[in-house]
Amino acid sequence: MKNTETKIKRPLVVVAVLTLCVLLVSAVSCNKSTEEPSLTPYSLVIPDGFPKMKIPTDNEPYVERIALGRKLYYDAILSNNGMSCSSCHLQNLGFTINSSSGMPVLPHINMGWKDKFMWDGREQGTLEDVMLFEVEQFFGTDIAKLNAHSQYPTLFSQAYGIDNIKSKDVAKALAQFFRVLISSDSKFDKVQRNEAQFTNDELQGFMIFNSEKGSCTHCHVPPFFADNGLHNIGLDSDFSDPANQGYFHESGDSAHLGQMRTPTLRNVSLRARYMHDGRFSSLEDVINQYNTGVQRTPYLDPIMIKSNNTVNLNLTPLEVSQLAAFLRTLTDSTFIKNPNFSKP
Ligand code: HEC
Ligand code: HEC
Repeated sequence: MKNTETKIKRPLVVVAVLTLCVLLVSAVSCNKSTEEPSLTPYSLVIPDGFPKMKIPTDNEPYVERIALGRKLYYDAILSNNGMSCSSCHLQNLGFTINSSSGMPVLPHINMGWKDKFMWDGREQGTLEDVMLFEVEQFFGTDIAKLNAHSQYPTLFSQAYGIDNIKSKDVAKALAQFFRVLISSDSKFDKVQRNEAQFTNDELQGFMIFNSEKGSCTHCHVPPFFADNGLHNIGLDSDFSDPANQGYFHESGDSAHLGQMRTPTLRNVSLRARYMHDGRFSSLEDVINQYNTGVQRTPYLDPIMIKSNNTVNLNLTPLEVSQLAAFLRTLTDSTFIKNPNFSKP
C-alpha cells in the first residue's frame, strides 16, 4: 500500500522539484539530492547473475545509514540482556553460531532479496518489517536508551534527519546493513566466472545437484541456493510437535503442515547443525535424509516426488560424498572475512 502511494506521488514530486529548479536556476544551483544533502550516496554492487534488489524508496542506501546499521548490529544497547545481534549471528560463521542446543541460527546472507523470514517463514514483508520485529518483539529494545545516548541521536539525525529516534528508524538502519551483506565469492562463483575449477568430485556433485538425480536446484536455486518458498521435504510423518508444524503454525491451514522456508546453502558447511531443529550435524547426514529418509505424507511437496514415483534419491555412498563436496564449494571466505561487515 505504502509503496504504491509513494510510486503514484513520485512523478508529481519530480515535476514540482524540476519546476522549482527551473525557477531558481539563476539564483542557486539545483542539487538533485536536495532531500538528503549531507549524505554520501552508496551504490550497491549487484553481482553478475544476481537479480535486481528491491529497495524501499524511503530507505535508499547511504554510507552513513549503512554505518549506523552496522554499529547497531554490534551494539548490546538494543537488548536488555547484554546481547547484540552479533552475539548469535557471527560473521566468521556466515552470521550464524555453532551452538549445540536450541533452534539453529539462520545466516544473514543475501537477505536483501528475501521477503519470507525465519525457518517457518512466519515473518513476511520487507527487511524493514522483519527488523522491526527483531527490535520490538525479539529484543524489546528500550528506545529511550538510544535517545539518551551520547552518539545515537546525532547519528540518526545525520542519517535520517530526525531528532527523536523510534523503533522504525532503528529497523530502517539495520535493514541498510543487511542489504550489503552480499555473498558472491565462493568457489562455486569463481568457477562460474572461470576463475577456478571444480575438482572431479565437486563437478560430479554439482551434476547430481542440478540433475533429476538430486533435483536440489528445484528449491535451492542459484545464485541464492534458496527460492524464498515454503516446502515440506518429508522430514517427519507426525506433526503433533508444534516445532515441526512449519508454516501451519502461522496459517492454521493443514496444507502448510511441515512447510519450512528453503534455507540458503551458501556457507552451509560453516553450520554445526542442520534443519529447523538442528537434527543433523553433518552434510552427509542431511544428504542421507534426502537419500533414504523422505517421509511420504499427504503434505510432502510434489517436487519431492520423482518422475518414477519414488521419493528417495538412491545415491551411492560415493555420490553422497560428491554432493557434499559440491556443497562445500559454496563457502565464501571473502564474505566471512570482509572487514566492512565486522564490528566497527
Ligand atoms: C539469542 C540468539 C539470537 C540473537 C541475539 C539474534 N538472533 Fe536473529 N536469529 C536467531 C535464531 C535462532 C533465528 C531463527 C529463528 C526462527 O526461525 O524462528 C534467527 C533468525 C533471524 C532472522 C531471519 C533470517 C532468515 O533467513 O529468515 C533475522 C532477519 C534475524 N535473526 C535478525 C536478527 C537481528 C537484527 C538481531 C539483533 C537485533 C538478531 N537477529 C539477534 C538467533 C538470534
Ligand atoms: C522441495 C524443496 C527442496 C528440495 C528439492 C531440496 N531441498 Fe534442501 N531444504 C529445503 C527446505 C525447505 C529445507 C529446510 C527444512 C527444515 O529445516 O525443516 C532444506 C534444508 C536443506 C539443508 C540444511 C540447511 C541448513 O542450513 O540447515 C541442506 C544442506 C539441503 N537442504 C540440501 C539439499 C540437497 C543437497 C538437495 C538435493 C538432494 C535438496 N536440499 C533438495 C528444500 C528443498
